[in-house]
Amino acid sequence: MGPLDFIRSIRRILAGKPQVPPSLEGNQLLDIIMKRRSIRRFADRQIPEDVFAAILEAGRLAPSTVNLQTWTFFTYTAETWQDTFGRPVPFKGDRAVIVMGDTHRDKMVLDVFPYSPLVEYTVAVTNASLAAMNMNLAAEALGISSVMLSETGQSGFLDAGYLKQTLDLPDGVFPLMTIIFGYPRGSYPPMPPKLPLEQICFEGEYREANLGVMEDWLSQMMAGYKAAYPLLSFNAQLRVYHSKIDQAEADLKDMVFYGDQGREPG
Ligand SMILES: Cc1cc2nc3c(=O)[nH]c(=O)nc-3n(C[C@H](O)[C@H](O)[C@H](O)COP(=O)(O)O)c2cc1C
Repeated sequence: MGPLDFIRSIRRILAGKPQVPPSLEGNQLLDIIMKRRSIRRFADRQIPEDVFAAILEAGRLAPSTVNLQTWTFFTYTAETWQDTFGRPVPFKGDRAVIVMGDTHRDKMVLDVFPYSPLVEYTVAVTNASLAAMNMNLAAEALGISSVMLSETGQSGFLDAGYLKQTLDLPDGVFPLMTIIFGYPRGSYPPMPPKLPLEQICFEGEYREANLGVMEDWLSQMMAGYKAAYPLLSFNAQLRVYHSKIDQAEADLKDMVFYGDQGREPG
């Protein structure tokens, strides 16, 4: 990407704003949703116990398929994270929660999906992700910022095998993401390039995306990455993911599709 394209892309990122109809401006919840950003710079300030408890409660009360609550949260302070993983919480966050899909617990009393492992897995991922988002938004409402991570070096879902061993997880419990919480340090970064509504929202029938819009979006993604991390590149980050994906794929298969699952009876 040449310097002119870079500048053009950065300008377009900076011009991006949430589109809220003027009649709804000032709505508190909408404001929180629109202003939320993934934050990767945290202040050296502790989250009070009651505030963190409220964040977890928001996760506990999230909606889920048939109210199955197919999730597990592993919670950490900066100290317990350091003790468990031998490294600081990413981005110097104050608290961390590893959100897991959990199809293990319900089986104590109910086996809803005995021969449908993909459905069971999808249900668990969907529900746990909703719980994660509930925690994320509750945090935002309480002045706490967060970032969800699938790759933290040791605690994202790409590290599923390592986590299963380290945390002694039973089959059917699989890490999805780590949420890092803390008070933000400095102001929020600009909104990263979001696809326009016409590209993602259809009435009646699916439309192929506009290639020009998609290329423009990718240029902004790469320029934004370069601006945030001048010494790294978007492609280099993709290579980090690729280097771990094969192992993660194998580990996840073992953790998710276990026992007699997926086989027809008899
Ligand atoms: C499930 C999930 C996993 C993510 N994993 C990472 C990650 O490993 N590292 C990272 O820096 N950000 C990660 N993010 C944050 C995204 O990069 C971020 O949500 C995206 O760039 C959009 O920015 P925004 O959240 O500020 O709107 C993740 C987000 C989600 C929802």
